[in-house]
Amino acid sequence: MLCLCCAVSHAQSIQVVSPDGSRSITVKAESGSLGFEARLQGKLVVQSAQAMGFTFASAPAFLEKLSIKSKESRTVNQTWSAPNLSNGMMRDHFNETLIEIAEKGIERRKMQMLVRAYDDGVAFRYIFPEGFSGDSILITEEMTSFRFNDADTAWWAPAEDFAYESLYKKNNVKHVGAASTPFTVKSVSGYWLSVHEATLVDYSEMYLKPMEGDSGSFSTALHPWPDGVACKALGKYQTPWRCVLMETDQTGLINSSLVRNLNEPSAIKDMSWIKPIRFIGIWWGMHQGKFTWSEGERHGATTDRTKKNILFAQEHGIEGVLVEGWNKGWDTWASDKIPLQDFTQPTNDFDPIALTHFARAKGINLVGHHETGGNITEYERQMEAAFSYYASLGVRYLKTGYAGKILPDGMHHHGQFMVRHFQKVVELAARHQMCLNVHESIKPTGLDRTWPHLLTQEAVRGNEWNATYKPNPPSHSVTLPFTRGIAGPFDYTPGLFNINHTPEKNKRIYNLITHQLAQCVVFESPMLMFADEIEQYENHPLWPFVKNIKATWDTTVVVAADIGRMVCLARKSGSTWVVAGLSGNESSSLDLDFRFLDKAITYKATIIHDVPASDLYYSPTQFGKTEMYLGANDIIPMPMLPGGGFFIALESIDSATISAESQKRYIENSAKFKRIFEARRKFGDNRVSHIGVGKPVKRAAPFSEQYPASGMNALNDGLRGSVDYSDGCWQGYLGTGVDVTIDLGIPDTVGKVRIGFLEAPSSWIFLPEEVELSYSMDGVVFQKLAPQLLNRSKPFEMGVHLIKDYEFENLNFVAKFIKLRSKGSMVCPEGHPGAGNPSWVFVDEVLIDRKK
Ligand code: NOJ
Ligand code: CA
Repeated sequence: MLCLCCAVSHAQSIQVVSPDGSRSITVKAESGSLGFEARLQGKLVVQSAQAMGFTFASAPAFLEKLSIKSKESRTVNQTWSAPNLSNGMMRDHFNETLIEIAEKGIERRKMQMLVRAYDDGVAFRYIFPEGFSGDSILITEEMTSFRFNDADTAWWAPAEDFAYESLYKKNNVKHVGAASTPFTVKSVSGYWLSVHEATLVDYSEMYLKPMEGDSGSFSTALHPWPDGVACKALGKYQTPWRCVLMETDQTGLINSSLVRNLNEPSAIKDMSWIKPIRFIGIWWGMHQGKFTWSEGERHGATTDRTKKNILFAQEHGIEGVLVEGWNKGWDTWASDKIPLQDFTQPTNDFDPIALTHFARAKGINLVGHHETGGNITEYERQMEAAFSYYASLGVRYLKTGYAGKILPDGMHHHGQFMVRHFQKVVELAARHQMCLNVHESIKPTGLDRTWPHLLTQEAVRGNEWNATYKPNPPSHSVTLPFTRGIAGPFDYTPGLFNINHTPEKNKRIYNLITHQLAQCVVFESPMLMFADEIEQYENHPLWPFVKNIKATWDTTVVVAADIGRMVCLARKSGSTWVVAGLSGNESSSLDLDFRFLDKAITYKATIIHDVPASDLYYSPTQFGKTEMYLGANDIIPMPMLPGGGFFIALESIDSATISAESQKRYIENSAKFKRIFEARRKFGDNRVSHIGVGKPVKRAAPFSEQYPASGMNALNDGLRGSVDYSDGCWQGYLGTGVDVTIDLGIPDTVGKVRIGFLEAPSSWIFLPEEVELSYSMDGVVFQKLAPQLLNRSKPFEMGVHLIKDYEFENLNFVAKFIKLRSKGSMVCPEGHPGAGNPSWVFVDEVLIDRKK
């Protein structure tokens, strides 16, 4: 129902209150400057920090001598639905006021602000009327700002990171750098807020820049065109919505529909062709380095392999198969060449016509792929033909990608140019009735309400990072639903079962298999990839559960929410439910209350859970399976290991066939499991037993300030660095070896000494050729032991990261001082691109053990 009412006010303060009265936004004009204040339950939670308005390239700023008046107000209360939703009907209920802003003085310009209050947050956007400043508007700065209480805490991702593929940081708002949105904040008063934007069309993406001298305040920043102008427009023009989600608890951050509701209703009238889809494909093999994207001996996208995937999909009821690397031109991607793909020319070993017939006969959708490599000039030249080509083959799902520097030169990945390009792709896909999954995209801002065929986007640091030396920590999974998830669905490519996937290169996933399974449920993506290779799924005892996971759900219930630590969602499809939980870097536990189930129904529950035999480091693929009866009155303890999780399939049953014993036993066991799990090593906590801890270290060769690890004591602080040296644990020495003396404080009998080094040739870091140990009572006269040698069996390998401990064992001496020196590897060796140049030695953690 749409209700329109008008109210005119001359006050210089206009308030819009949400339908239930809990949220409000006030726009003010004080001494000619514009500002806003947002309130939750009457408490001020965020406000502007500077005069709101704009600066322009060819017109005076619109910032001063402003007055406001309310032009018209209305209430909208309607519901909407679409095939890409996982929470049934959406309620779109808000109060809105259109405010006219008038400028006094010579210019006397006018613009408008549209302001809304919903029961889950507030929003506003600026509207420039036709002829606002001559023919065109050239915005250089938007002066919207957000001031938080400087004791608030933020979860944020750095704005400068590539395509939003970042880990989130948690800081006091005072210590936040340039941050992308969604920007999630816990206020000192205990409220949960998130700043984002909605309806990002023909504008630059916004990020937040800390304001100098005003801690906890952020100004809006935009990515300019090469000429310095941020956004260019002709005629009537409006900005995206600036919105603040405001919640009393964390559950609300996941449940909110604010961002989508701020978007226009569907532009596609007949949505019958838009169908969510689950797919597998030829993908992970390339990321692991088993196959290549481009043609050659190890080419992934062959006709045969595609057929195998199609047959597997058919056998297991999966709707789609993605094939990457099927077209000519991949040899130019991620290379020193300009990426030049040919989107209508298949490779010689890939037969698209035969395959589309084959797939159609088996009832499987081929999911097409366009990797532009960022070369927009070329993609826009080919786009019409490329879409027509796929359409002629009957392809109805397309994944696109922008992994590379944007061309033409000077265009920012997140500037207005790319926002316009994104829109062109979305509209072209709609014309061809093709559903989209856009990787390295602009950020999602709820456009999937207007364009429901935009089934999913990446703009997230997904599983593919686990193929690199910078794997995702488990805490990432339990941060995303409260941050990136607020913006919309994301293609994380979950469901990797082969956890230790490339042991010879020291690459793996830091998740238990239960965690990867639960991600498939928790991470919403209406185009949902089960990312591992079919060989990993075939005959795997967990595959039957994965293949029943839906791409969208009828209902979603947030069961538990604790950002960075744990999350649990229950999702319903037809008469069945699944419940999935994820833990972060530490063990966690919840008493899972099944009150969301239908009271009249008994369910057979199959629970996949962590067991003491599972361990993040040693046995990540171990899991337990328990079956029991459950109903709406049950509460079941669910302990999870660090990096673990659980998955529960609930089927309604007519008669009981499992004994009640099972539930009783499980509950007893869970109490034991919980204690065991709590004692387990946390992810990233590599503490070692150590008699040197806290003892002073004297260095003869100073470490580099560029890689100072955790300061002077890093060498014996008890915290080990990992192969992903971005964990900040390693100390770097450039062109010199390490040379340190550790003062044990009092003489001790030493049994073992160990020192860790890293090798990462791609970053010019090499293992030393030898490490020498000497010891002393007075710190002057040292006794030397035979050195530990590197003893390489094969030369260094580019791209392979290693940690090597140099160990001195079976020692038996009394000493107060221990000196360690590394030798060799001062310069990059022959055969390395940096040969002869100073190289790095990365060292971490000297372990000194008492003689047992
Ligand atoms: C990056 C995408 O995120 C990934 O899914 C894809 O496989 C590669 N680019 C190649 O296009
Ligand atoms: Ca990516």
